[in-house]
Formats: sequence, structure tokens, C-alpha cells
Amino acid sequence: MGRESGSIRGLSPTPLGLCAVALGRRFRVHFPAVRIFVIGAGGREHALVWKLAQSPHATQMWAAPGNAGIAAERLARNGSPVACVPIGAEDLPRLLAFAQDQKPDLTVVGPDNPLALGIVDLFNEHGLRAWGPNKVAAQFESSKVFAQQFMERHGIPAPKAGVFTVARAASRFAAELGGRCAVKADGLALGKGVIISHDMAQADAAIEEILVKRAFGAAGAQVVIQELLAGTEVSLHALCDGTSAKLFPTSQDHKRALDGDAGPNTGGMGTYSPTPFLTDAHLAMAYRDILQPWLKGCAAEGIDFRGLLYPGLMLTKDGPRVLEFNARFGDPETQVYLPRLENDLVELLEASVNGTLAQVELKWSALASVCVVMASGGYPGSYAKGKPISGLDAAAALPNTKVFHAGTTLAGGQVVTNGGRVLGVTAWAASLRAARDAAYAAVEQIRFEGAHFRRDIASKGLKPG
Ligand code: AMP
Ligand code: GLY
Repeated sequence: MGRESGSIRGLSPTPLGLCAVALGRRFRVHFPAVRIFVIGAGGREHALVWKLAQSPHATQMWAAPGNAGIAAERLARNGSPVACVPIGAEDLPRLLAFAQDQKPDLTVVGPDNPLALGIVDLFNEHGLRAWGPNKVAAQFESSKVFAQQFMERHGIPAPKAGVFTVARAASRFAAELGGRCAVKADGLALGKGVIISHDMAQADAAIEEILVKRAFGAAGAQVVIQELLAGTEVSLHALCDGTSAKLFPTSQDHKRALDGDAGPNTGGMGTYSPTPFLTDAHLAMAYRDILQPWLKGCAAEGIDFRGLLYPGLMLTKDGPRVLEFNARFGDPETQVYLPRLENDLVELLEASVNGTLAQVELKWSALASVCVVMASGGYPGSYAKGKPISGLDAAAALPNTKVFHAGTTLAGGQVVTNGGRVLGVTAWAASLRAARDAAYAAVEQIRFEGAHFRRDIASKGLKPG
């Protein structure tokens, strides 16, 4: 890791930077050049860009639309900046036109929406290589009905559930569960399509909202109703190449807005990796019970999943259950995984696209990492934008620390807030406690009006005392 942070500093135009350039030249023969186009604008995409930029393969990078942090990254091989292109991540025609013009060797798709819209299929049809699942494979995330039924077809441990298009039948099933259920809109709903109910009044209100009032539009034409499970939630990540899958270490997100898992659900307020309560034996079991049947099921149904599968698990007293699948890197899980990853990310994503992952071994540092999300006041509800952010340089000067930008932009040379989740302040250290302390020390350096963040990130992984 020390080596990694050394090479990160070497990215600035200093003698170390020149050293990185010289190294790049020396090794150019062994590192075929790869020009990379990253799609997305969040903290996950900043982490991806940061890690890809460290690769001696990367010779040119663009991000659409990117953010202020992404725009500040430099490539290790030649010091060139990452160009942010003002095209939205869902504007497929303009993304395609840009890619046809610039001809990147690899397009890396961060968010779920362009994947669900079929960006990988579209790019492939035009002879462009793209990393991420195709439209059929992206259904693991874009359709909760598809994901639930797939799990049932292939014996993947999942909550007991039913699929409904009619409110009365949905309500009857919810009643069988005593009203204790998760009511889920089938389609993508900006992370808001899941309503947790503890009694029949809440369940009926949720069914009415999603299925009848169509609060999430067409995404709510069908609902999945799952039994409400109790336990500890963890995130799994597996890189896949169509036939094999490589499991990452464990991590845990904090989805509620406030300390002690109170307040509304958010996109994720902070993460840490690894989670000490999950051992290698647990991971091996998760591979056997979840990934193996998932791979077999994909093969049986002709689903060619090349990308990142991210099952959200509930560890119940009866064993792990898959609550949902995502078909992309987690945000902010990526921010804690990538500082621990010792492989070259360009090579890994290439292997994922090429179907050669079986020949690759994932290597992880033994360090722990923690990411604390700093959000705009009001998030996940409405919030103001354009608030100047101070202290970023002071935070960046801290060792083994990286401030990943999520909702930021530049206004007159000043970094300002531009989204709900603004920054993912990340640190790594020999122990989880030290990583947690380092992340919060960096958070203390940063100020913007209305900033809020949880103070208990990683506490579930730390023994009391
Ligand atoms: P999902 O987008 O399906 O992961 O749901 C969002 C959040 O709702 C999850 O992170 C869980 O906290 C919660 N959740 C979803 N399904 C269930 C379930 N069956 N039982 C308990 N909690 C759930
Ligand atoms: N960590 C939450 C998400 O990526 O959906």
C-alpha cells in the first residue's frame, strides 16, 4: 500500500512524476497501451478512474460526465489529465457518437441505468469494446422480478417472495407474512423502489403507492413482495467473465442516513472492508451456495454476464439470503475495495471482457479501509447545490488517505457541491480502528455548508472498547 500511495503522489508534476513517466517508457513494450472511456459521475467512478489511472497500460482517459475530483486525476504512465466530457451517463446516442469519434480501446460503465438501457450491446454493435453486463445480463439489477425468479429457479438462498401485478393478490400475500415484508418495485427507481413494512397498514400503503399510484412509473407495473428478514447486511462483489467469477473480500455499507442505522435509506453513507465477522470460510460458503448456482443458472439460460455482480446479503440465523442483485460496482463499496486491490485494474477488466478471468488471481492488501460519505444537508431528501468546499488540500495531504469526489463540480476554479452524496473520504491502515480514525481525521479537515455524515461508520466491525 505504501508503494501505491507513493506512486499516487508521483502523479503530480514533480520529480516523482517524471520517474513514473520514465518507468512507463521503460515498460511500454510489456504494457500495451489502453485508451479508456469511463461512464459515470459519482464516487464509484472517481475510485475506478483513480485506480485505472495507476495502470501502466492507461495512456489516455475520458470520463462522461465525470466530476471535479475525476478531472484532477493524472495518468501514472504519462501524466496526462483525465478529460471530463459533458455528456450524461444515460445519453446513449451522444456517448456512442463520442466513442465513435475517439475510439477508446475500452469503455468502462459505472452506473446501473446505462447498463439497463443496453449501452454495452449498443457499443458492441458498433465495434466498440465495453466493460459491463449486456442488457439481458443487467436484468439481475434492472428487474427484481427477474432476479427473484432466477434465484428460485436455481436454488439460490433468497427470502420467501411472491410477484404481483394486482393489488388485491399482493395484499393477500402480504397478509400471509403478517404485513412484515419488503415491497419492491420491479424496475429501477433511483434506489427508492423498496418500501419496508412492519404491519398490514404499511404493506397496503406500499402496494398502493407502487402498484396503483405508480409512484415509480412503469418500474412499478409489477411488485416483488419478500418476507422481512432480520440479520446483518453485507455486500458481496464478484468480477465475472461469462463463465467464471472471482469473489472480492467482504465489505459493509451503511444505508441509513443517520447514526445507529436510523433515518431514511440512502445510496450508502459509508463502507469498510474487510468485515471481521465474516471469515474466509464464510466467503467460501457464499461462493458455493450463491455464486456457483448463479454461474450454473447463467450457463443454463445463456446469460453472458461479463461485469461485476454485487449481491446484497442478509446474514440470518438460518444462513445468508440474497436480498437483491446489483450488476455493477457498489457505491461506496468501490471506494474501500480499490485501495486494497493490488492487481492492475485495466488487466482485470480486460480479462472480464475477454473471458480469461480464470487465469487471474485477485490480490488484496491485508490493510483495512474505511470510507465516510459527506453528504449535502437534506440528503436523501432535497438539498442545495453549489456550496463551496474547503479543506480538500489539507485532507489530501494526509497519508494513506484519498478523498473521492461524488457530487462535486468546478465553479470559477472552486470545487463546489453538486449532488446529494458529495465526497467519499477514504483511508486505509493496518487495523480497522486506525483506518476509521484516519478517515474521520480527514473528514475533520473538510467543510461545506450543511455537510452531514455518519459518525459510526465501521463501528459494527470494531469490538467495543
Ligand atoms: P434492495 O434495494 O432490494 O437491497 O433493498 C434496499 C434495502 O432494503 C436493503 O439494503 C435492506 O436494508 C432492505 N431490505 C430489502 N429487502 C429486504 C428483506 N427481504 N428483508 C429485510 N430487509 C430488506
Ligand atoms: N452500496 C449501495 C449501492 O451501491 O447500491
